[in-house]
Amino acid sequence: MPRSPLETPALRVLIERPQVEQRIGELAQMLAADYAGSAPLLIGLLNGAVQFMMALMERLPGELLARLDYDFIGVASYQGTESSGQVELTKDLVVAVAGRDVLVVDGIVDTGRSLDFVMAMIASRQPLSLKVCTLLNKPARREFPVPIEYCGFEIEDTFVVGYGMDCDQRYRALRHIAAIG
Ligand code: IMP
Ligand code: MG
Repeated sequence: MPRSPLETPALRVLIERPQVEQRIGELAQMLAADYAGSAPLLIGLLNGAVQFMMALMERLPGELLARLDYDFIGVASYQGTESSGQVELTKDLVVAVAGRDVLVVDGIVDTGRSLDFVMAMIASRQPLSLKVCTLLNKPARREFPVPIEYCGFEIEDTFVVGYGMDCDQRYRALRHIAAIG
């Protein structure tokens, strides 16, 4: 039965907005240094990475933004809080990957299944380099080993929402990270 958008389960703040913003600033500084001589292609995973990727780019220096391109890729693998175990491509890239320094931007890495799928797909298109930047990481849940170069926060095995993360498409727009329950 569809829930009313006004009905809200208990949301417990896990990471306050200022902490999230500060960490994004730190990640942006690392990216600015590491991609100083490069024209990177940022690839955001829909829909969870949108807020994070935009916030990251806001904190990057103008000279890097002038060389940087971005695109989005869509995959689906989740229903509610249960993994379906399958990954499906829902939106392919428009920008060509070959020869580019690609940075995949994700909201949260859980089992690693989605990212593993995306990384294999992008790797097959001959990027110059391929790295991952995720806002959140749940290492305890990992089933598919994926290398993560840039990580905002490592969190415990708890289901979170906010800053792009959803529970059945709700709560993405929160500017802090909250746990449900
Ligand atoms: P993975 O493929 O198991 O790594 O998880 C992929 C996707 O599951 C993420 O990109 C999210 O969309 C979703 N997901 C995993 N854990 C959470 C969570 O705690 N909150 C919201 N979405 C999650
Ligand atoms: Mg989701």
